[in-house]
Amino acid sequence: MIDPNGSPEVDPSLLQIWGGSPLEGHVKISGAKNSALAIIAGALLCSQDCCVRNVPSLVDVRRMSQLLLALGVKLQQRGDILEIDASVIGHSQAPYELVSQLRASFFVIGPLLARLGIAQVPLPGGCTIGARPVDLHVRGLQAMGADVQIEHGMVHAYVSDGSRKLKGAKIYLDYPSVGATETLMMAATLAEGETTIENAAQEPEVVDLANFCREMGAKIRGAGTNTIVIAGVPSLHSTDYKIIPDRVEAGTFLVAGAITHSELSLSPVVPEHLMAVIAKLQDIGVQVIAESPDSLRVMPGYSLTATDIETLPYPGFPTDMQAPFMALLTLSKGDSVITETVFENRLRHVAELNRMGADIRVKGNHALIRGVPMLSGAPVVATDLRASAALVLAALAADGKTTIQGLHHLDRGYEQLEMKLLSLGAKLQRLSP
Ligand code: UD1
Repeated sequence: MIDPNGSPEVDPSLLQIWGGSPLEGHVKISGAKNSALAIIAGALLCSQDCCVRNVPSLVDVRRMSQLLLALGVKLQQRGDILEIDASVIGHSQAPYELVSQLRASFFVIGPLLARLGIAQVPLPGGCTIGARPVDLHVRGLQAMGADVQIEHGMVHAYVSDGSRKLKGAKIYLDYPSVGATETLMMAATLAEGETTIENAAQEPEVVDLANFCREMGAKIRGAGTNTIVIAGVPSLHSTDYKIIPDRVEAGTFLVAGAITHSELSLSPVVPEHLMAVIAKLQDIGVQVIAESPDSLRVMPGYSLTATDIETLPYPGFPTDMQAPFMALLTLSKGDSVITETVFENRLRHVAELNRMGADIRVKGNHALIRGVPMLSGAPVVATDLRASAALVLAALAADGKTTIQGLHHLDRGYEQLEMKLLSLGAKLQRLSP
């Protein structure tokens, strides 16, 4: 069950990891966090109940569920199945306490506006990886006929004509933002007429959301390309939908195999979603083979070699894999350059990796990594979600004990990470005060 009053968990506990143990075995990859967040928001579009499967048990997913409860929607959770009944949406205003903790919760503005003709959602504010504005979301909704005012940190959006319906529009995104593409695609499903989103994000999670909406009767084509066309329909109907596997979790375990020189198999995965990650692993000297259409095996080479990485929108190298790869490159022979182009402040793990003996210098949005022969365990602090994964990976390879603080970041995005690593033979334990 989901507790509507559940408060955010800031975990004061510590993760201790003793590095150097080889890993072995199989990892079951959970459902994609970013798909789950968008799809739970998307369920607001449906005036009947929906069943969503393969929902990962994560703090971020619980927060999104709490947001829907706060809007008066009924939810039932059974294992990894979430039943969402948004036939009645009791409130059009999202509470600040929830939106401020989870940027993705801003995405409810699209479906709320489409269903009710009115939505009030607080600005999500900055976060540790960057300012992350919502101007593209807002401009797109305005193009679809919404009046939008931003006052006292709250975005008030409404459709002022009597129909309370958004109107189809031609929208060009200045940047292929994942969240803006998702917000506007959801909003357009129930709009009057046709909407075209040019320079749309092409991430697999955008396609997953589009498929979910299509299963509910939405008319969407082009998801997965840079032009998405949505023909509005009057209403959407019930569906039963399974979320895709999490490509970032899968990528993180591929790096876990590489950094510990271990052979691991992972499933279920969609290998196509990991093309950029697999290509970089191969550059570094790590083989990844497809064992079946939905499973991969990482086969590390004896030595790791430096490479350069630039983060880009999909199908480029994902920013969410930048920190895990930085951990790997600290132990790769030679000099590597990582250029972060998606978020302006996503290199804060550098200082923590350096505390473990890495040799990394930051110049602007570039990190210059000089490979070292070994890392040594140290007390470190996780600064954001993917940074926390990078520290776990570094710790698995380091000499001695690493103690990681800031586990609330880790729990936002990795389902049962410790259990999964323990089952592979890692030596770790969580210490709760
Ligand atoms: C999503 C993912 C996140 C991933 C990111 C990039 C979810 C829940 N999160 O975040 O894990 O790292 O995509 O792949 O799906 N921007 C603007 N104006 C806007 C919107 C975005 O300037 O209106 C900027 C952002 O500040 C950032 C860049 O565009 O610099 C990319 O952001 P975006 O693609 O929107 O990321 P999110 O959807 O927030």
